[in-house]
Amino acid sequence: MSRPSANQPTICESPVKGSAELKTFYVTTAIDYVNARPHLGTAYEKIGADCLARYKRLAGFDTYFLMGTDEHSTNVEKEARRLGKTPEDYSAEMAVEFEKVWEKLHISYDQFIRTDLPIHKTSVTQLFQIIHDNGYIYQGTYKGFYCASCEEFVQDKDLTEGGLCPRHQEKAEWLEEKNYFFALSKFSDALKEYIEQNPEFIQPEIRRNEILQVIAHGLEDVSVSRVGKTWGVPLPIAEGHVVYVWFDALINYISALGYGDKEDDKFKRYWPADCHVIGKDITRFHCLIWPAMLMAADVPVPKSVFAHGFVYSKGTKMSKTLGNILDPIEMSEFFGGADSLRYLLLREIAFDRDGDFTIEQAVTRYNAELANELGNLFSRTLSMVRRYRKGDVPGWNSAAEQDFERLAGGVVDDYCSHMDRLEFDEALAAFWKTVQAANRYVEEKKPWELAKAEDPEPLDVTLRVLLEVLRMSSVLCIPFMPVKSAEMRIQLGLPSDISALEISEAARPGDPGWREVGTPSPLFPKIELPESEQ
Ligand code: MF3
Repeated sequence: MSRPSANQPTICESPVKGSAELKTFYVTTAIDYVNARPHLGTAYEKIGADCLARYKRLAGFDTYFLMGTDEHSTNVEKEARRLGKTPEDYSAEMAVEFEKVWEKLHISYDQFIRTDLPIHKTSVTQLFQIIHDNGYIYQGTYKGFYCASCEEFVQDKDLTEGGLCPRHQEKAEWLEEKNYFFALSKFSDALKEYIEQNPEFIQPEIRRNEILQVIAHGLEDVSVSRVGKTWGVPLPIAEGHVVYVWFDALINYISALGYGDKEDDKFKRYWPADCHVIGKDITRFHCLIWPAMLMAADVPVPKSVFAHGFVYSKGTKMSKTLGNILDPIEMSEFFGGADSLRYLLLREIAFDRDGDFTIEQAVTRYNAELANELGNLFSRTLSMVRRYRKGDVPGWNSAAEQDFERLAGGVVDDYCSHMDRLEFDEALAAFWKTVQAANRYVEEKKPWELAKAEDPEPLDVTLRVLLEVLRMSSVLCIPFMPVKSAEMRIQLGLPSDISALEISEAARPGDPGWREVGTPSPLFPKIELPESEQ
């Protein structure tokens, strides 16, 4: 299946070349239920969103990256009680655990929102009240099945033969209660129009078509309160109810910016969101219910929702019952750090598709691409510069410029256009061509022979060109491998504060201020496949 890359709308044009006004970019991920620790599939989403956020910062955007935890779910409450804890304490502890995992994976969020925080609850109360006052909330009776793991009302026709929820294979419970409904159906036309007029709103296109289908079949109103529960945000309009967990959770995207509390600068500055990065299984919430809630409250709707695919392990979705859960921390330790894992995940699986992650394949790719192609290019180039030129960076001239153009011309533009479409695998592939071309360049030029020649120029040119490819790599790798990128820059003898860098630097070779390289040390030591995987 080929990807309609050229036709796919970009999330936001970048880089902002020389723009006087700093453009903002607000990116979010789904917030996670805290009743189980994050697995590799959960991590995949955050790594992809982080890659986008880091890229946007590099492209000069005033970027704000939000993540968080979704705490008011029945399963969270259940798990807390099972452990003899209050849901409040349990959620707070688990949120810390989640943050630790994200930190280890080098996820650079600017804020971590928790739905049990007062600032969030205030926003939920406020938005609910406005939607109610605008006439879109009414009382009704809900009769039907409910899956506690999805936290979703399931239609009879969607249940499996044994009455199980198709997603979790768990028994759905029969629910019959008087609660409050949100008049989603009233927004059918407005949603359809918004989706049709803004092709970039739902990406990739396959998800957009699915959502248009759902609208075509007719939208039903949704129940947005649960009666007789205490764990959640109390309904502002009736006692004894809490706000339905999804209605509550979606609001995190604006509560984090201070909506309804003091409408502080952040809300004005960053809303509407540029990109909600979510899994392909929760598009209905993000592409229908969420924009309708905002329309109902006269708040602008997000600019785009990007639905990524799933990471499978041994051909199926990771699940406790199947025992095929991969732990992101164990995996990153195995690969010598989170950066390699980030690279491998985003290189192996196109972000908009499902894909299998197997240790065997990942080890092969790691050794071939990171250890051999990129790692060796680094160590052999740096060693040659030290051996033949005592570590001095040879000068830049038109011959070097020509060779560099041959190896790397147009790469940064290609890379950017893929990054803007969240085609991380293709952005890496575009840039990897240069890494491979540089390795061939070494074989072609044979610097060890040039070193014996009287004329120093050919060797100078060769070494400088290789150094420039490495310098470019140290910039283009930042969104994928932030820590390794800083290490690369230290080894190259370049300023290593990656937050001060701009993408345009990658395409600007020949800095006369670059005088001396640092000491090489292996960036990606080879890895052996563990016996259990052989
Ligand atoms: N907690 C939900 C899940 O894991 C996702 C909530 S995303 C939000 O499926 F937008 F609703 F916040």
